[in-house]
Amino acid sequence: MTDRADRDENTGVEPFDVVDIIRTKRDGGVLEDERIDWVIDAYTRGVVAEEQMSALAMAIFVRGMERGEIARWTRAMIASGERMDFQALSKPTTDKHSTGGVGDKITLPLAPLVASYGVAVPQLSGRGLGHTGGTLDKLEAIPGWRADLTAGEMMSQLESAGAVICAAGSGLAPADKKLYALRDVTGTVESIPLIASSIMSKKIAEGTAALTLDVKTGAGAFMREESDARELARTMVELGTDAGVHTVALLTDMSAPLGRTAGNALEVRESLDVLAGGGPADVVELTCALAREMLAAAGVHDADVEAALADGRAMDSWRAMISAQGGDVDAPLPEAKHVEEFRAREDGVVTGLDAMGVGVAAWRLGAGRSRPGEAVQAAAGVEITAHIGDRVQAGDVLARLHTDTPERVARAVEAIDGSWTLDPSGEAVPSRSIVKDRIA
Ligand code: URA
Repeated sequence: MTDRADRDENTGVEPFDVVDIIRTKRDGGVLEDERIDWVIDAYTRGVVAEEQMSALAMAIFVRGMERGEIARWTRAMIASGERMDFQALSKPTTDKHSTGGVGDKITLPLAPLVASYGVAVPQLSGRGLGHTGGTLDKLEAIPGWRADLTAGEMMSQLESAGAVICAAGSGLAPADKKLYALRDVTGTVESIPLIASSIMSKKIAEGTAALTLDVKTGAGAFMREESDARELARTMVELGTDAGVHTVALLTDMSAPLGRTAGNALEVRESLDVLAGGGPADVVELTCALAREMLAAAGVHDADVEAALADGRAMDSWRAMISAQGGDVDAPLPEAKHVEEFRAREDGVVTGLDAMGVGVAAWRLGAGRSRPGEAVQAAAGVEITAHIGDRVQAGDVLARLHTDTPERVARAVEAIDGSWTLDPSGEAVPSRSIVKDRIA
């Protein structure tokens, strides 16, 4: 028996009218379970039109949703497609999801680091849209690497290499796939109920036993205000916990870019520095904090993850993970045909670096796409040479802009100009902690 009100198979008559549902939400009402189930199913079947779903998404954006509505909306999106199951694996599974930010390459060192402890990490990732980069675009900078795996290939790689980073198949939460693309072009992305249900439907359908969320706040994040990011984190932790997934969230700073690179091959190179025991302090801090959470959730407590980076265990895991997907781990990464320096106009200590300015510049240089399916430039992006805490003099290089198409540079400069805040007294010594809070 199902409690869903379905279309009558004999008459073809739908049980509800989408316009009534839109009106209910527009006027601040609460949507009943059967209506939520139906509207998601009917949208996936193409019965609810894109313009009707955009009206409903905007009504939800403006009016919000109660906890029960968000949970039901998430369940309905999961039910729109297939669910994966990793219970046949000989190892526990643990996964991570980031709400997205500039220079957020953390998945690259994190997945192999966690896998080096004998835990399986099934990372179904996406491509970038807008100013935030996508993990698959980054890894595709590695010659030969392929993002598309069958379920069988994924399972056998999880057994052998421990970690998989690959594209989510179209069968997983197809309602979200449609709805996310619609939200992207209707100004309805930054809604807590819609983001929480979008992320958690995919993660619950993916079948991981444990999930660590990296919820970002600040200028380069979807949730600029910390109070909104906190509410998003709490909502997702509740959705995961209610679905039987061990879920913890870290609230992390995205006011400045993570590390010193934004762009595909540039971020792979920086991740390799981290896997070799070096790399920027903020990237190492966040990688290690998330690794400890993911491992603890899988029953591995007090892991010395810094040691696994320093002694090459995590790098060995990386090599196994990349080569299992056809990537040539020894091949040189692509280099941009054109590199332009962006220089300081005055002296000072860098006290702020605007993540959004850097993200948009990397995107305009060719690292990101404006339309789904567009090709990205593997070598394009921004290399930051003066980050928070660095002292600069007028004329020093603040960033190098990499691109294969020099005509893109002027618009990238427009975006990045003004991104550095300098303290001319040279006295400020800013300290930056990436992890702001833990929500469980
Ligand atoms: N990532 C998602 O998968 N969905 C959202 O709504 C926002 C970020």
